[in-house]
Amino acid sequence: MPEWLNALPKAELHLHLEGSLEPELLFALAERNQIALPWSDVETLRAAYAFNNLQEFLDLYYAGASVLHTEQDFYDLTWAYLQRCKAQNVIHVEPFFDPQTHTDRGVPFEVVLRGIQQALRDGEQQLGISHGLILSFLRHLPEEEAFKTLEQAMPFRDAFIGVGLDSSEKGFPPRLFERVFAKARSEGLHAVAHAGEEGPPEYIWEALDLLKVKRIDHGVRAIEDERLMQRIIDEQIPLTVCPLSNIKLCVFEHMGQHNILDMLERGVKVTVNSDDPAYFGGYVGENFAALHEHLGMTEAQARRLAQNSLDARLA
Ligand code: ADE
Ligand code: ZN
Repeated sequence: MPEWLNALPKAELHLHLEGSLEPELLFALAERNQIALPWSDVETLRAAYAFNNLQEFLDLYYAGASVLHTEQDFYDLTWAYLQRCKAQNVIHVEPFFDPQTHTDRGVPFEVVLRGIQQALRDGEQQLGISHGLILSFLRHLPEEEAFKTLEQAMPFRDAFIGVGLDSSEKGFPPRLFERVFAKARSEGLHAVAHAGEEGPPEYIWEALDLLKVKRIDHGVRAIEDERLMQRIIDEQIPLTVCPLSNIKLCVFEHMGQHNILDMLERGVKVTVNSDDPAYFGGYVGENFAALHEHLGMTEAQARRLAQNSLDARLA
């Protein structure tokens, strides 16, 4: 990666902590927790990172997360991510975690949160990286389950800046979660949601109008709806775009076809993020580098993208 790219101060606003679980740590945690894995070694697991769509990825992502059990596991996961951030001049992070992925396996909410929280605090003190944690609801599960998760989270209200919505998008529109998002907002939490990754522009409208989100995660399909584009530009609604993720999950065929720089030039507040870096081939720095290499991103464009990420912080 060019040094000038690495040196740019940046924020990461779209990162699933569970998606930063590198195969080496995954195997180490499996051994520590005495969990049998369906892959013989790290190379075999890495070879399985070939996806045709979001669901194929999610199946592996949830299987990988099953090695996380103790507070120390969640600490190690988060700490490893923060060290990558430090190396790439990511100075602020607003990561997601998926509590239901863990509580549904019998891991207490508090165990998950305490491990993550301690690493984020140490990251602030030892690495100088500020943070705001976002609790994400799994949209393939019923809204009732999201309500239960929010209830479990409320004793720790101050640990979060907001709620998000992730997992399988198609067939699970934002409108299904209107009530739980209203409840979260009434508690003073910000709202964000994945929309327009695989799903249609209508899902972005719903996220804005019904969930009242402050940012759209992905949002690349907004470009199919001119009226929506005008709104996103007029209201300067940030899109947390994840270029390498979009290629790995076949949202675009090649990086040369990605629309992030077209959006930037039209005045959309786009930002660069890694989504699930352990699975998609790199962290924020590698995502910037791919835009430079395949789309001819200039230094001026990189500076605007980095500034957008700092401007779009919620914490
Ligand atoms: N969970 C982790 N990564 C995700 C993505 N890219 N889209 C939806 N849910 C996710
Ligand atoms: Zn995501």
